[in-house]
Amino acid sequence: MSLNVERLEASFSQLKNKETEFTTYFYANLLADFPEVQPLFAQTNLVKQSEKLFQSLVFVVDNLRNPEALTTALKGLGTRHVKYGVLPEH
Ligand code: HEM
Repeated sequence: MSLNVERLEASFSQLKNKETEFTTYFYANLLADFPEVQPLFAQTNLVKQSEKLFQSLVFVVDNLRNPEALTTALKGLGTRHVKYGVLPEH
């Protein structure tokens, strides 16, 4: 399956000025729907974490046409997530 870059860019552009609304719903839903991941975020400052998540999504969408930059960044992000205790099923 290939990425529909135009569709991703267009849909994300509608979220770009709704950062707080988006991230607030995202973490509220994540922690409510998947209580088993709550321990992973027990020590996390969710305000700062929300900013980091959003910045990483901005980076991804900004680099959809730049697979080299995307690959390097996402490999690093994935490696760090293993250290945070994130599992493949998450
Ligand atoms: C689209 C997928 C995801 C993105 C873009 C993302 C992004 C990020 C970013 C940018 C950070 C900040 C630290 C860093 O850069 O290493 C982070 C930390 C973290 N993420 Fe994710 N993440 C994703 C999926 C997940 C999932 C599925 C889980 C677990 C259910 C998870 C759990 C965590 C935890 C536990 C931390 C560390 C929080 C802390 O510092 O206390 N992430 N994530």
